[in-house]
Amino acid sequence: MADYRIFHSPRLSGEAWIGTAKNAVLPIMAASLLTGEECVIHKMPKLTDVEHMMELMINCGAEAKMQEDTAVIRGGAVHSPESEDLLRSMRASVLVLGPVLARNGECTFSMPGGCAIGQRPIDLHLKGLQKLGAKVETEGGQIRVSGKLQGANIYLDFPSVGATENLIMAATLARGLTRIENAAKEPEIADLCHFLVAMGARIAGIGTNNLTVEGVEEMHGAEYTPIPDRIEAGTLACAAAMTEGSVLLQNARSNHMRALMFKLAESGVIFQEDEKGLRLRGKARRPMEVRTLSYPGFPTDMQAILMAVATQLNGLSVFLETIFENRFMHVVEMNRLGANIRVEGQLALVQGGKNLTGAHVTATDLRAAAAMMLSGLVAQGETLLHDPAGHLMRGYEALEEKLQALGAQIEREA
Ligand code: UD1
Repeated sequence: MADYRIFHSPRLSGEAWIGTAKNAVLPIMAASLLTGEECVIHKMPKLTDVEHMMELMINCGAEAKMQEDTAVIRGGAVHSPESEDLLRSMRASVLVLGPVLARNGECTFSMPGGCAIGQRPIDLHLKGLQKLGAKVETEGGQIRVSGKLQGANIYLDFPSVGATENLIMAATLARGLTRIENAAKEPEIADLCHFLVAMGARIAGIGTNNLTVEGVEEMHGAEYTPIPDRIEAGTLACAAAMTEGSVLLQNARSNHMRALMFKLAESGVIFQEDEKGLRLRGKARRPMEVRTLSYPGFPTDMQAILMAVATQLNGLSVFLETIFENRFMHVVEMNRLGANIRVEGQLALVQGGKNLTGAHVTATDLRAAAAMMLSGLVAQGETLLHDPAGHLMRGYEALEEKLQALGAQIEREA
């Protein structure tokens, strides 16, 4: 739990270092369970989700330790996760399913938790594993998946990120060839594939929605540095755009951020790419139309954050959320600051250009928390952001400190 006091802030300026992507690190950690040998992952971000994943590794029978910002994981003899609390603490815990099943022939677990942004079932994970020959049984609220895996053709009804990751990992040790069509192709999935290839996997079609995995007998240890966090970079870009700032996002990968950059550029922000990273300056001015989609479409993880920007644009901005059915929880909190946003089903209509005024607001999920922090930067007076579940620390490495270094007036209370 943490509280943040946020004050109306000047234009943000300076440099910010973009850390390693949470959504790349978590599946890569899970993939380490595919071998008994040592895997070494560098530049680990300091996040509570990463701490939970380290505990989950140990809970599954691995040895896992942090040496400064390097994680050393030795898969050893893996087994099903034993702690229900860990499984419930984050959605990404479901990612141990594929590796444990593939190594062990069996994995029993309970439904994962995470941000309450929708139903988030795991039917696509289970259906794909069944295609690979696994048997799925439910008993006493637990799901048991077992069997020797055999390559198969899988078509995903929806390009789920987690299901794609679980199925690729499971397929690396399945006998024969697995094809995954309509796979998700987020950069974090390509990153996972590159790590798996370093572990000895044979994967073709990396970065596309048509993946082929040729199963191998055994995987081996590997050393890897995952990609920078495009959502952290996008969040800081939005903070700069809201305050008419001038910021250099060091280490940002602009090729992973095209959809957001396009929206901000249409609205008036100027981008410049050089060897140090991504620079932006100027203010977002024109209202925008945003539709969340699978990559390379506009990321659902940036929707709440860009909506904070939209509250400052004169005119009507329209947001259509197509990935999660309950991802507008930040709207009530933004309206508490004086924003004028109306939700109609999966559509949010933002009548922008209103002056926001500081108030007490609550962090309802990870990206909503970031959106509220940014809203506080432009609200008159003081905004108290209450984050009882510690959402911000789950997914951002000291976001408030990075913003402070750019000139934002933020104090962390607990
Ligand atoms: C991942 C990201 C999350 C991001 C999301 C969408 C990680 C750790 N998290 O989450 O930050 O917001 O991708 O880009 O990488 N669905 C089903 N059945 C399934 C699986 C998913 O119906 O078996 C639905 C979900 O309920 C949701 C949609 O598909 O509505 C997208 O989910 P998915 O792509 O699986 O997201 P996650 O992997 O959970």
